[in-house]
Amino acid sequence: MTAAPPPAPGAPTPDEVVAGLSTAEKAALTSGADFWTTTPAPRAGLPAIMLTDGPHGLRKQAEGGDHLGILDSVPATCFPPAVAMAATFDPELVERVGAALGEEAQAEDVHVVLGPGVNIKRSPLCGRNFEYFSEDPLVGGVLGAALVRGVQGRGVGASVKHFAANNQEHDRMRVSADVDERPLREIYLRGFQRVVTEARPWTVMCSYNRVNGVYAAENRWLLTDVLRGEWGFDGLVVSDWGAVGDRVAALGAGLDLQMPSAGDAADARVAAAAEDGGLDPAVLDTAAARVVRLVQRAHAAARPGAAYDPDRHHALAREVAGRAVVLLRNEGGVLPLDRGASVAVIGEFARTPRYQGAGSSLINPTRLDTALDALRDLAGADRIAFAPGFTLDEDPGDTGALTAEAVAAARAADVAVVFLGLPAAAESEGFDRPDLRLPERQTAVLDAVVAANPRTVVVLSNGGVVDLAPFADRVPAIVEGWLLGQAGGGALADVLYGEVNPSGRLTETIPLRLEDTPAFLDFPGEHGHVRYGEGLFVGYRWYDARAAEVRYPFGHGLSYTAFAYSGLALHADGDGLAVRVTVANTGDRAGREVVQVYTGLPGSRVARPPRELKGFATVDLEPGEEREVTVRVDRADLAYWDTRVGAWVVEGGAYTVEAGASSRDIRLSGTVAVDGDEVRVPLSADSSIGELLADPVAAEEAGALLSGDGAAGALIQDEGMLRMLESFPLGRLADFPGSGIDRSALAALIDRVNAERP
Ligand code: BGC
Repeated sequence: MTAAPPPAPGAPTPDEVVAGLSTAEKAALTSGADFWTTTPAPRAGLPAIMLTDGPHGLRKQAEGGDHLGILDSVPATCFPPAVAMAATFDPELVERVGAALGEEAQAEDVHVVLGPGVNIKRSPLCGRNFEYFSEDPLVGGVLGAALVRGVQGRGVGASVKHFAANNQEHDRMRVSADVDERPLREIYLRGFQRVVTEARPWTVMCSYNRVNGVYAAENRWLLTDVLRGEWGFDGLVVSDWGAVGDRVAALGAGLDLQMPSAGDAADARVAAAAEDGGLDPAVLDTAAARVVRLVQRAHAAARPGAAYDPDRHHALAREVAGRAVVLLRNEGGVLPLDRGASVAVIGEFARTPRYQGAGSSLINPTRLDTALDALRDLAGADRIAFAPGFTLDEDPGDTGALTAEAVAAARAADVAVVFLGLPAAAESEGFDRPDLRLPERQTAVLDAVVAANPRTVVVLSNGGVVDLAPFADRVPAIVEGWLLGQAGGGALADVLYGEVNPSGRLTETIPLRLEDTPAFLDFPGEHGHVRYGEGLFVGYRWYDARAAEVRYPFGHGLSYTAFAYSGLALHADGDGLAVRVTVANTGDRAGREVVQVYTGLPGSRVARPPRELKGFATVDLEPGEEREVTVRVDRADLAYWDTRVGAWVVEGGAYTVEAGASSRDIRLSGTVAVDGDEVRVPLSADSSIGELLADPVAAEEAGALLSGDGAAGALIQDEGMLRMLESFPLGRLADFPGSGIDRSALAALIDRVNAERP
């Protein structure tokens, strides 16, 4: 947990500052002064602070402002975007990135970094998937919390975004994400909950969209009941840029700060509402005090004149990128490349890398490595030939000549390495991708290259997953290089030559076809609504429940060595599960394994995916080395959201625990008994006979109620009859002629049983 230092001794508390302000000054505090700074309160000696994107580098604009990455920003290290960071499955590494971001923020006098984004990748088409961690809430929550810890450990605030259910860009400013409560709690909010409760971010950014019909910015249930009431959030809620339509309603719901500046007239409307009864003045005081507190804690932690070392940060960016690369396929050991081999590097991306997405996270990098230069540095320029193969503007003019050049280079080399990827314009905010395809021009060049030299390696640059069908089984090796940040070129060369043994893992499923994906029939919705019809079954939860084939499963990623699992030991106690497993490196080079632990509960009384990730750990092993790895699963992570009682409940039973190298490469499994929470659902006349008999206290008393001479008593003695009657509501049974159930006795029993509830 990281908390900012308290205000300097003797400094006024936020409430004291607010008490000295006029209504107009308080209202002004609840909106920015401009695009990136808060409004100061000079009379109270309160300065402004600066908030800046985020999430994988600083986009500090020196002049002007925009939230779409259009205008220039000061140079900053472009770390790998979340899609790549997540593939490391390594919170310690992500925390180091956070710390580096914090250092850069301190050096640039930035007080809050707008990130991480922990939204779930509901559909692979979402235009901003590159900025999000995973289709799984545990991965997003654990890594999001790590980033927050890193940033805030350096005395800079983080802003967890986009809260909540912002899972598409289409119509993002208005669309209502219509989600049932279980998936909302168990999938879409769970990552936020982990970040808020474990890392205590200074701020949370509410999203543009509506959640079940209510704008996030005006959603009291979301911003107050859940975020503050249930999770204990004590920081500030800031709006996404332009997410507030009605600040008075938003403040009432729990928003504190509207960004960017809404102008003097909007401030005046808020002040008038606080004076004429349209807004409870106490609500305005609370929001203003939260702004004051943020400003105070940010200034108390600020280090004017701080500097950072761009070389060290570039090296960290390369380390993370190397850990993020996922080796999807490697038949016949074509990788790692032999240093003596001649290599034809093909594809413009090798020379002009695609290393980040567009939009508000667009970083102006301090420098930029290309894979082509890095490969030449590693193997010697004479080993590496280059042919661009295609142009990034898809200019059809010289297609023939470019293809011929690529084919000639491939034919003359021992191995061809072809860099393919999505065009920059395909991935940004504000719109989604229409399909998963790579540009046809690129796959056509690849076809020609493979025909000339079957020893072809494909290296991909993409933020969202792409359709691999055109070459999945036709090339011996596929390297998923995501968007790897400014040092990605070097990292790719490291992996291709085995300087780094790949250990990245998929945090999202690569499907066979778009039509197979869970949200296919409900994306991106219509007429302002998108229905999350797949419910809990997001990502691998869907494919596993339907026993559907996938191209590459969640958690997949190869290594240049091999790992063996043994000795699964399970232990359950009041805090959860301890899962121990021994992993051995059985190959001939050092490597890193990502041990994944999944649980399931066969025969559960509620809908459940067959397996859900509940823990993971990385382990570095020398050849021949083995180690015991312990993965802890908190009891809270075994809970489901019980809609009957509106609470998290651990269902008792024999849980399956699986340890493996991917969701479809389970190496060991066992069963462990877990005690369930007692759930006492309040009884009413609408409760069924079955529910009455299932309640331990009520069941005892029910005997007396149902043992009269009436038909009901006789019927429930008969097992076959009981089955038919089980779902019969008590009140309606009582009304049946001759049932023998006394209405007032029933009412008294219900009252007694409910009163005895803990
Ligand atoms: C994005 C946010 C970003 C903000 C400020 C919005 O368009 O959704 O992620 O932090 O702009 O640039």
